[in-house]
Parts: sequence; C-alpha cells; structure tokens
Amino acid sequence: MFEGLITVAYILAALCFIKALAGLSNQEKAKKGNWFGIIGMALALAATITLADTGAYVYILVAMVIGALIGIRVAMKVEMTGMPELIAALHSFVGAAAVLVGFNTFIKQTLPGAEHLTGAALNIELGEIFLGVFIGAITFTGSIIAFGKLRGIIKSKPLTLPGRNWLNLIACIVCIVLMVLFIQEGGNFTYLVIMTIISLVLGLHLIASIGGADMPVVISMLNSYSGWATAASGFMLSNDLLIVTGALVGSSGAILSFIMCKAMNRAFVSVILGGFGGEPVKTDDTDYGEYREMSAEEVAETLKQSSSVVITPGYGMAVAQAQYPVAEMTRKLRDLGVNVRFGIHPVAGRLPGHMNVLLAEAKVPYDIVLEMDEINDDFPDTDTVLVIGANDTVNPSAMEDPSSPIAGMPVLEVWKASTVITFKRSMNPGYAGVQNPLFFKENNFMCFGDAKNTIEQISNAI
Ligand code: TAP
Repeated sequence: MFEGLITVAYILAALCFIKALAGLSNQEKAKKGNWFGIIGMALALAATITLADTGAYVYILVAMVIGALIGIRVAMKVEMTGMPELIAALHSFVGAAAVLVGFNTFIKQTLPGAEHLTGAALNIELGEIFLGVFIGAITFTGSIIAFGKLRGIIKSKPLTLPGRNWLNLIACIVCIVLMVLFIQEGGNFTYLVIMTIISLVLGLHLIASIGGADMPVVISMLNSYSGWATAASGFMLSNDLLIVTGALVGSSGAILSFIMCKAMNRAFVSVILGGFGGEPVKTDDTDYGEYREMSAEEVAETLKQSSSVVITPGYGMAVAQAQYPVAEMTRKLRDLGVNVRFGIHPVAGRLPGHMNVLLAEAKVPYDIVLEMDEINDDFPDTDTVLVIGANDTVNPSAMEDPSSPIAGMPVLEVWKASTVITFKRSMNPGYAGVQNPLFFKENNFMCFGDAKNTIEQISNAI
C-alpha cells in the first residue's frame, strides 16, 4: 500500500516534469510550466523523504533548510546576466552528487553484514556505479571550468594541448579497460579511484579546450551531461523518478545543444568531444571606413516617419536593463500606427531565451516577438531597424568573411533594411571579439550611449 502510494507520487511528479518542459518551450505557457515543475519537485521530495528511516528525518530537514536558505539568497541576488554561471555552478553540484552516490553505493555493497549482490545483478550494479561516477566526475570539473570562464576568473582562451583529441580518446579507452577489470574482479576500489581521477582531469580538459565564444553550447551540453549523471544516480539508488527526470534533462539538454549548434553553425560531434572554437580576435588592421552618427531626437523623428520597425535586442539591452523603456517606446510607436516587431537571435544575450525573458518581463506582447528565421526575410521591406545592444548576432561578416571566427553563424540580416540604427556605448567589438562591418555601412547610424538612457530620451521625444 505504502509503496504503491510512492509509485503514484513518482508517476505524478514525472508527469508534472513533462508538463513543465512542454510549458517552458512557449512564452505564454512558461509560468504555468514553472508551476508544474515546482509541484512535481515538491511531490518528488515529499515521497522520497518518506522512504528514509525516521531517524534520518532530522538530518534531511537540517540539510534542506540550509540548502533552501542558500538557494533563496542566491536566486534573489543573481542578475539575469549572471544566470549562465549560476547554471554552470548548479551543474557541478549534480556531477558531484553522482560521484558521491556512486562511492556511497560501492561502499554500502562492500560493508560487512550488507546484503551482497551476486552474479549478473552484481555486474549490473558495478557497471552502474562505474558509469555514474565517470559521467558525474566529468560534469563536476567541466562545470567548474565553465563557471570560471563565464565569470571571467579563468581565461576564455581555449587550452590547446598537442594531440588533445587523442588525449581524450586515450583517457576514455583507459576508463573502459578499468571498467571491465572493475566488474571482472567483483568491484576493485583502486580501479574506481583511478577512473575517478582520470574523469576529473578529462572534464577539466574537455571544457578548458573550448573557446569563450562557444560557451553557450557548452552550458547546454553540461546540462545534458548533468541529466545523464542524474539518471545514473537513479539506477544506483533504484529510484525510478531520478531515472525519468535525468533522462528528461539529458535528452532535452542534448536537443538544445543540437539546436544551438545549428544556430552557431558548429558540428555537434566536435562539441561533444570538446575543443572546438578559437580564441577571440580582439583587433584587426582592416580599414572599415567611416561611421555615421544620429542623435536621440533624430532617431525619434526617423521612427515616427517609419511604417515598419524591427528591434533586434542583444546582450547590451540586458546590461543596460533597457527593456522597460524599449517596451514603453514600442507602445508609443504602436499607438502612432507604426508596425513594430522584435527579431530574436537564438544566441542573443548570454543564455538561451535571454531576450524573450527580458521582453516578457517588460510586458512586450508575445505575438510581436519573432524568431530569427521568422523575421529574416522581412528585413528588405523594413523601414527602420533598431539594433539595441546587439553585435555578433547582427554581424554580416558571419556570412561574408569565411576567415571570421563567427563565419557560418546565421545572423539577423538587419543591413537589408532601409535604415539601421545601432545603440551601443563605443565602437568596441561584441562577445566574439570581432569588429562588425555593419557599423560602417551606408545605411547604418550609430547612436552612442547607455541603451537605457538613449531609449528613454527617444521615447520622451516621441
Ligand atoms: P554581443 O555580441 O555580446 O554585444 C553586446 C553589445 O552590447 C556590445 O557591442 C556592447 O558594446 C553593447 N553594450 C554593452 N553594454 C551596453 C549598454 N549599457 N548600453 C548599450 N550597449 C551596450 O551581443 P549579442 O549580439 O547579443 O551576441 C551574443 C554573443 O554572446 C554571441 O557571440 C554569443 O555566442 C555569445 N553568448 C551567447 C550565449 C547565449 S546562450 N545566448 C551564452 C554565452 C555567450 P559597447 O561595449 O560598445 O557598449
């Protein structure tokens, strides 16, 4: 009866997680999706805690209160722009948990007086332990390096050891051989420890070999790894819900990585193997010509005379927190009968969906926020494009210069509009460190200053 109730709770929680993922894939249903996630997690925790010995309740409660207090504090403090590094840090916890669960399961197996598994059941258990620790250790150190790179405490320059792919391959082969020996010998602690050390180093190397400009894909890839590490923990703990949840996170992370690879024109396999992407090029000697400037009042006049306007926001809008004046300006222009829409690049900002979240927060209607593929064909018929704090995602050299570090990345083709107005503070390059020829095109005008201040001035002038 009791076990049946736990199973029902787990099935309900799993359904909630599926509903949460489905909801989060759509802006209008995202809030509801989040609630499903919260309810699912509450159900899962409640059901799992009831499985523990009553004597353990107090320890669990103390740990939960401490964890919740830290979690609430971090969540309240984190800036939207700091989200990717927080996610990387959380992934490292999942990896560490999988390693600890693996060692714990192994130690429990070997304790005198414990119920010892034998035959095929023992081999399966040992295989689960080995794989769980392997994936967990890679996720743990890989996520720490990703955190450091995103935070800027580790250089974004990729580590290029000679024969890095061979080193990775040799490490994997050694781990496979150790796994076979580990299972054959019925569980040898030394092999487990050696493999853990190799996997920790492998995780460091895999992510350290990836250049800063490719970090978006790294985050979603580590998200996927953390899911598989969770599923592995589920097998070791014989917990069906952990297996289902881990598989959901693992596969959705893999799908997201795939989508982002497509958006950035990277090969999926080279991402999984690590070590793609190069060092950002900070300067070049190319003479791009002159750029033109426009004042806030002139921009307001241009906008009032336009019948169609597309706004392409980027990381700078997030830094300036300009989404509120942008929403206000949009409302005023729409009241004047101007057709205003937004074009969102899949990797604009610093995390997937970054721009969508900011615009939703400022109450910009969802139906005027379009994906890159939905808007790209409309630029030739657009009167004015406002590039607000975006740079790499509107860089024509991605399409025109095969030697560019972002060559091949699909971009918003804003330069095809009649007039483009770019909002930024200086002529500095964007995240990938490459200069943007858009700024020097005949139809582009720079409007310098902090995006929030400038857009407020324009909005007032309108
Ligand atoms: P970026 O290329 O990063 O350019 C942002 C621009 O905003 C800069 O040129 C900067 O110029 C300007 N800016 C900064 N603060 C500003 C302020 N207060 N007011 C006005 N402008 C300001 O932006 P993007 O086009 O969104 O491209 C995103 C880049 O980040 C891509 O290279 C992408 O690969 C990478 N990335 C994305 C993600 C995800 S998942 N989205 C994660 C990690 C990295 P000034 O300094 O001159 O003002």
